[in-house]
Amino acid sequence: MIILIGGEKGGTGKTTIASNLAAMRSLEGRDVLLIDTDPQGSANYWAQSRDDENIIPRVACIQKFGKGLPAEVQDLAHRYQDIIIDAGGRDSIELRSALVVVEKVFIPIQPSQFDIWTLNQMDELVETAKSFNPNIQARVIISRASTNPSVQEASETAKLMADFSNLELADATIRDRIAYRKAAKDGLAVTELKPKDPKAVSEMNILYKEVFGNE
Ligand SMILES: Nc1ncnc2c1ncn2[C@@H]1O[C@H](COP(=O)(O)OP(=O)(O)OP(=O)(O)O)[C@@H](O)[C@H]1O
Ligand SMILES: [Mg+2]
Repeated sequence: MIILIGGEKGGTGKTTIASNLAAMRSLEGRDVLLIDTDPQGSANYWAQSRDDENIIPRVACIQKFGKGLPAEVQDLAHRYQDIIIDAGGRDSIELRSALVVVEKVFIPIQPSQFDIWTLNQMDELVETAKSFNPNIQARVIISRASTNPSVQEASETAKLMADFSNLELADATIRDRIAYRKAAKDGLAVTELKPKDPKAVSEMNILYKEVFGNE
């Protein structure tokens, strides 16, 4: 499976989600490649900390920039069972070109109006990509949502999704939890963190199943 975690808004949890999925998929015994297309290099740093801590399984990560990305991904798809591409939080050549080769794109957004506005542009980018990649599936993940049950932002955001013809709302919601920050620091997925945060593990498992299905 070739997937992209991308979007035009910064700091929505893209690298967090990409790195968690990469580690979880590797734990299933799959050969996974994480491609960091963001010059900030956060996904690469995460994989590097994983290596520094000798965490098994290793998650292979490369950095790749520029318009040669689709050809490189198609070539690497012969060598890896799964490729997870992490794109930086802005419109970029990497984001646009990745949309042409991936099977699924997941777009994390925080439940705020500022993030929702950026979805207009993502809806258009997916529409354009469909002329080259007609089967692409695009899902929006509500990410970093409040854990306070009285805050209705996530359900309000869900209602606004009907406005976008190329985007669907993901079943999984990722909430703002300290476990994600702790795991990131050591190059781990939340499922590997000790002590476990069962709620973080549960929501990431829901997302994992949604992304990879029974494959
Ligand atoms: N679900 C979460 N709960 C708590 N903290 C989170 C969560 N997701 C992300 N964070 C934290 O928020 C910050 C931004 O997350 P991350 O780097 O994953 O976002 P990003 O979308 O990749 O950002 P960028 O657009 O800069 O690439 C990081 O400090 C990260 O640890
Ligand atoms: Mg990032």
